[in-house]
Amino acid sequence: MPDSSPADAPMSVTKRLRQIPLFTQLSDAEIAHITEAAREKSYPKNSVILFEDDPGDALYVVLSGQVKVVLIGEDGREVILSMLRDGDFFGEMSLIDDQPRSAHVIAMEESNLLVLRREDFRQCLEETPRIALGLLRALSRRLRRADDKIGGLVLLDVNGRVARLLIELADENDGKTIPRKVTHHTIAQMIGSSRETVSRTIREFADRGLIEVSRKDIAIVDRVGLEALAGL
Ligand code: CMP
Repeated sequence: MPDSSPADAPMSVTKRLRQIPLFTQLSDAEIAHITEAAREKSYPKNSVILFEDDPGDALYVVLSGQVKVVLIGEDGREVILSMLRDGDFFGEMSLIDDQPRSAHVIAMEESNLLVLRREDFRQCLEETPRIALGLLRALSRRLRRADDKIGGLVLLDVNGRVARLLIELADENDGKTIPRKVTHHTIAQMIGSSRETVSRTIREFADRGLIEVSRKDIAIVDRVGLEALAGL
């Protein structure tokens, strides 16, 4: 990868890379290396970015939009493992362990991604070991979330799982509301339930004064009550 000064790189990408947790601690020169190696690609809503079991050839960083990491069963049922948005990255697992892709990744809305090819990712890691630290931090966070999820699936009933997910989604948004674009169907796919059950639970939470549902969002009204249901 040839050396270059940050001034050579397109400002917008450099600036956006700075805001990505994986890269925040890097020097200008290190950011310039990545900017030079990576390319931007846009994916329309519902397009599949990665297929489970394919060989892994690139790392992706979400610059804008939202994607979901999903497993699809033989009967076509989808389980959403995670939803990722700007600043998040994915596709690192195959590059690290040389195994096929562990899940599908699908654009939930039009998404703009930064794509770093395998060899450039490996070179970045070798030249900039600090990226590895950021990667480890992010992987630890992801494992914590996965542990919470497994705990919730085993230990909580549907009310508890919905309550916990609503708190998580609100915390990822503004702490108080969940945009309605997160549909009941999506919530069901995140907690291993059916859309009908989720709709019934949400109605019940609204009747009990735990949440308020409007056309634009779901607002958390009684966080303490929801936390009690979620075992938090
Ligand atoms: P990879 O296996 O290369 O391709 C699929 C990607 O989905 C994977 O790398 C991770 O980046 C991402 N992924 C897999 N499981 C999870 C999870 N539980 N939470 C968040 N992201 C995940």
